[in-house]
Amino acid sequence: MMSENKPQLIDRYGRQVTYVRMSITDRCDFRCVYCMDEEMTFMPREQLLTLEEVTFLIRAFCELGVEKVRITGGEPLVRRNVDWLFEQLGKLKQSTSLKELNITTNGSQLVKYAKGMKAEGVDRINISLDSLKPEKFKALTRTGELSSVLAGIQAAKQAGFEKIKLNAVIMKGRNDDEIIDLAQFAVDQGLDISYIEEMPLGQVSHDREESYCSSDEVLAELKTAFTLEESDANTGGPSRYYTVAGSQSKIGFISPHSHNFCESCNRVRVTTEGRLLLCLGQEHSVDLRAIIRGYPNDIERLKTAIIDSMQIKPKGHDFNLKEQAVIFRHMSVTGG
Ligand code: GTP
Ligand code: 5AD
Ligand code: SF4
Repeated sequence: MMSENKPQLIDRYGRQVTYVRMSITDRCDFRCVYCMDEEMTFMPREQLLTLEEVTFLIRAFCELGVEKVRITGGEPLVRRNVDWLFEQLGKLKQSTSLKELNITTNGSQLVKYAKGMKAEGVDRINISLDSLKPEKFKALTRTGELSSVLAGIQAAKQAGFEKIKLNAVIMKGRNDDEIIDLAQFAVDQGLDISYIEEMPLGQVSHDREESYCSSDEVLAELKTAFTLEESDANTGGPSRYYTVAGSQSKIGFISPHSHNFCESCNRVRVTTEGRLLLCLGQEHSVDLRAIIRGYPNDIERLKTAIIDSMQIKPKGHDFNLKEQAVIFRHMSVTGG
């Protein structure tokens, strides 16, 4: 019943949680340098939530007022039967407060899945794209092929997805020479793009302080080529957006270092093994898998645990690029 779906997730600072980011696998067909180490040990499959458990969990959140769900990874589209999951979650829009079902992907599997995803009720797709040069793309992702992602972007457009957003993590000396080209690509293709400051999650093989490129530097570079105007557009995420004169595209900045946005945080995340993380940059968490497996089908118990977790949502992160990997989780476990 809709009346049961009224907002109940409010933390100690008065912030209402309306957005859940759910990582459904820590595996990925790429090994982006800022996200993973070259050699990664992935989670044993029995530790992952099953897709039935994911569905049950998301239903609990959406009966507590959550309006937006984003499926992340690793690469969510490498999880087997992911289309079944989209179908189940798509249906929640009829029976709960869920309004938007979104996904963040590296794009490599979109040729296979985009059309089905549209039919199953996925609303918006964010696609990572850090370079438009095949060799550089290969160097940044270690195993990725640019052509598969470009084909994936076209497949998403053809499937009828609107407001597709690209994500580019800009790193000094690696892809900061492509800031303008990436924006031009977005403009030409009618897409939005967000530039992201690299975050210190998990040990990687480069020095993150050396590669740090602030959003202000990216913005200054973009202003040499485009007329940008600050916009109050808000997708419910942390991006600050600018409009581009003569184009429908928006350019966003996700700046956890230079423009902290914790104050308006509206989200929580669930890791691949069902750990509810109250903040991307802190370890405060609740083991929801233990509840789901200890008390199968007891959705009220699960909902109570989620409501109670609001009491431990921290005020914000304290990322520090000088200390290597204060948070040992890689982004692929948390889902960004
Ligand atoms: P929208 O929901 O469309 O606004 O998407 P988004 O940009 O929030 O999500 P996406 O999955 O595309 O993530 C882009 C980047 O934002 C990733 O690097 C995420 O890790 C980062 N991000 C998302 N939410 C948060 C947050 O609460 N804190 C921090 N520090 N980074 C975040
Ligand atoms: N810092 C910032 N962004 C990251 N991503 C992955 N790892 C990091 C990191 N350490 C981005 C990817 C993807 C999104 C989910 O998170 O590029 O677009
Ligand atoms: Fe895979 Fe995304 Fe991490 Fe790249 S950033 S390795 S595409 S999960």
